[in-house]
Order: sequence, then C-alpha cells, then structure tokens
Amino acid sequence: MININVKINKSEKTYPIYIEKDGVENLKSKIVKSLRGDKYLVVISQKVDRIYGELLGFSKDEKFVLKDGEKEKNFHNYKKIIDRALKAGLKRNDAIIAIGGGVVGDLAGFAASTYMRGIDYIQVPTTLLACVDSSVGGKVAIDTKSGKNLVGCFYQPKSVFINLNFLKTLDDRQYKTGLGEVVKYIFIEKSCKCPEDLNFSNFMSENTNKILLRDLSVIEKLVEICIKLKVAVIEQDEEEHGLRKILNFGHTYAHALESITRYKKYTHGEAVVKGIKFAFNLAEKRSLIDKNYSFFAYDILKKFGFIEIPDYPKDKILKAMKMDKKNNSQKIVFILPVDYSTVQEFSLGENEIFSDSNS
Ligand code: GLY
Repeated sequence: MININVKINKSEKTYPIYIEKDGVENLKSKIVKSLRGDKYLVVISQKVDRIYGELLGFSKDEKFVLKDGEKEKNFHNYKKIIDRALKAGLKRNDAIIAIGGGVVGDLAGFAASTYMRGIDYIQVPTTLLACVDSSVGGKVAIDTKSGKNLVGCFYQPKSVFINLNFLKTLDDRQYKTGLGEVVKYIFIEKSCKCPEDLNFSNFMSENTNKILLRDLSVIEKLVEICIKLKVAVIEQDEEEHGLRKILNFGHTYAHALESITRYKKYTHGEAVVKGIKFAFNLAEKRSLIDKNYSFFAYDILKKFGFIEIPDYPKDKILKAMKMDKKNNSQKIVFILPVDYSTVQEFSLGENEIFSDSNS
C-alpha cells in the first residue's frame, strides 16, 4: 500500500491518502477502523453500489444511494443527505463516507462541511478522474441553475482510500475522461514545484500502452505521481490564491465548452483535452512557446487516442468564458504553457484570445 500524507499549512492538519490494490471486500473494515465516532453515513454512486454494494458490505440503512450524473449534485440531494444524517443521529465526531466519482465526493463533502458546522468525511474515489483530481484537495460544492460549483467551500477530507480495483469496471469513456486530467500533469509538472523529481512526461511516454490496457501496477504509479503533484500544489496554496490555479490548465476553454453543450455532449476530461489543445495553440500564437513543444504536446494527446472535438463558434465560447467565476473583470484568466512542463497565468482580453488564426 502507498501512503501519501497531505499537510495543509493553515490548519496544521494532516491527512493520509492510501493507494492500494487489495480486495474491495476489505475496504469497509479499514475505513470504519479509521473513524473517530461509531456512526457514519455512506453516500454511494448507484452504479458503484450495483457492482460493488454486496462486496463492500454496508447495510441499506447505512447508505444513501445517489443516482449518477452531474445533475444530481444539487440542493435537493444535499438536503436529503443532511436529513438522513440527522435521522441517523450523526454527531460531531461521526463521519460521512463518499464512495463514487467527483459528483458523489463533491456533494457528500459539502454536506459534511456544513453538517453540525463540519464533520469528518472520507473520500473513496472510484473513477480515475476522482482518484487523480477531485478526491484530493478539499474542493467541495454543489451546482446551481446559474452554474457548476457555485455553492461550496474548501474542506479537506479526513482520509482518502483509493482502491484501484474499482477502475477495472469503468467503461472506456469514463477511463479516458480520467486520462484527460492525467495528461494535464505532463504540461504543468515543473510548475507544481514538487520536492521530488517525478519525471511524469517520461513515465507517460514509456507506459502509454500499459496505461491504455489498464495495467494496475502502472496505474498505481500513475495515480501516485499525479497525487504527489497535486498535493505539492495544494500544500502551497490550499485556497487557490495563486499557484493552485495551474491545476486549471486547459479548463478555461473546457468549462466554456461544457457549458455551451449543457454538460451532455462531452465528458469533463474530453473537454479538458480540447482545452489543452486550445491553450497550446494560443500560447504558440502569442510566441510563448515554439512549434516543437506544440508538436510534442499534440503527439502525446494523439497517442492516448482522445476523441476529436470540433471548434465551436467563438462568440458562444467567449460568452461562456466570461460567466466563469474564476474571472474577476472583463479579462479572462488562462493558464498557458511557457516552457516544457511549465505554465503561467495570463489575464487576456477577448481580442487577445481569438485572433483569426485561433478562432
Ligand atoms: N480540480 C482543480 C483543483 O482541485 O484545484
């Protein structure tokens, strides 16, 4: 088992992230042993419950089963979880356990952050995307009609239990969407300022086929590296005042694309890959990088076989970009590559984003 400790400076608290390949049937006892109180509520994805419910062994009374899909991350389900926690008599030293992808983690984490002014929550991510991104770093939220994640906070989990066996049953599209967030780390690695030299770019090039074939030992290393990079970032900047923004590489375009296609046409990772390509194109036009680096990036993305997304009308993309909560004036914030594995933040006016050549 791999154990990575996260230390968030402000709170002086630490929490462990465990990465393991041990059987899913042993997970419950490990989680329950780690809790402070004797009561808990499990919020679990319907799909995961269907496949692993019996193996996991939580009883019906202990579980709140959440239907799958981003639209479930809403006030209604938030209230239902709080009501279930109240009914179960959860007290301040009890916990909420989130088993599923990003939607489950964000929603259950947000419920835990507000229930009795905050109780423990345990993340058990079951998708690749949640393993390498949403389960780590404490961003919890729900969506509103006006946009995604508009109500939320930073609230770190008590622990994260990553069991790689869950990844075996992900459908190909779900697995690839996770890889969309994974490849992002290749292009931001140096900017993460991780004390350990992880050389992720080489790892990804050398192991492309094994990663696509879901070789669990290679995935274990991949998840470990991505998490170490993310942890390095959040330990330096938990609340995204500066450095943490680099994790949004590819996301300015991706969020706009997801918004104009109503979160239905493309998965998040697919949109991120399109956003990474857009960022490379923009950086090249602004002479921040040379052609060789763009070729290198497009070549990696091609090897992983991500779907090709067409260009969307620039007026629609721009309108959606301006709605993003990360922008604070008329300017739009982009994270752009400036050198190999190095990115920087830029605030750009709309004329600087779409010249004729990158519209
Ligand atoms: N998903 C980006 C972050 O955690 O900051």
